[in-house]
Amino acid sequence: MGERLRDKVAIVTGASRGIGAAIATHMAEEGAKVVLVSRKLEGLQAVADEIRAQGGEAIPIACHAGRADQRQDMLDQALKAYGQVDVLVNNAATNPHFGPMLSIDERAWDKTFEVNVKGYFGMIQLVAGHLQQRKAKGSIVNVASVAGKMAAPMQGVYGMTKAAVISMTKTLAMELGAAGIRVNAIAPGLIETKFAQVLVDNDAIRSSVVARTAAGRVGQPRDISGGAVFLASDESDYLTGDVMTIDGGWTLA
Ligand SMILES: NC(=O)c1ccc[n+]([C@@H]2O[C@H](COP(=O)([O-])OP(=O)(O)OC[C@H]3O[C@@H](n4cnc5c(N)ncnc54)[C@H](OP(=O)(O)O)[C@@H]3O)[C@@H](O)[C@H]2O)c1
Repeated sequence: MGERLRDKVAIVTGASRGIGAAIATHMAEEGAKVVLVSRKLEGLQAVADEIRAQGGEAIPIACHAGRADQRQDMLDQALKAYGQVDVLVNNAATNPHFGPMLSIDERAWDKTFEVNVKGYFGMIQLVAGHLQQRKAKGSIVNVASVAGKMAAPMQGVYGMTKAAVISMTKTLAMELGAAGIRVNAIAPGLIETKFAQVLVDNDAIRSSVVARTAAGRVGQPRDISGGAVFLASDESDYLTGDVMTIDGGWTLA
């Protein structure tokens, strides 16, 4: 067990699998008490059990990140359990539409924005409010995507929400800097998770990404978690408003 996040409490959304589970586990390994959030308790419970088995601390809390009342209830439960929150990792996102941008229907559009933009923003409002009330420093890490930095054919509206996350990150970094609250983003490339399964399992897509990736492979969730630990820790005290691209060099050229 490391100590880079000792005495810190971190909320990680989308922590039941994939990138969120890797970030939560890595943070617990560095001494953080971790609040695991997603819609379904079952998956969270399994991650919490694993963290505890390795000597870490974690509690699972079911919460739909796009629903304001559930977000507030989640923060109340987190504060009841651990008394404070120092780190927020906004990671839970959705992409219900895979196809040309103009073919998306309104329901899918609303869902994408509800979770990926309103959800991230609402979580930050709550946690930043709590930090300001405590007059405490804090770190917010928004998991964006390389799809927010460039054209995202077949995932256009998802890409728009990720561009919005990057914009939100930069503005809030400026507005919250004086209060000692840092706001950074991570833009992952193609990472092997359930979310990206259609892309990773498609031989043509996978090999075209790998061919253009300096690292010569698709990423794994653990490839992202080290960056999140760094951004959450005091080691990155002078870093805010940044977008850390972790894509094995896919988008270099
Ligand atoms: N995988 C990639 O290639 C890739 C690339 C770039 C960026 N990203 C970003 O990385 C993040 C994590 O993606 P992933 O690949 O790890 O996905 P994943 O394996 O599908 O995991 C998604 C997580 O989010 C939770 N979730 C989904 N909707 C939610 C909601 N409305 N409220 C609360 N929790 C919700 C899921 O649990 P429940 O079902 O229990 O809610 C699950 O824990 C996302 O922000 C995604 O955009 C991924």
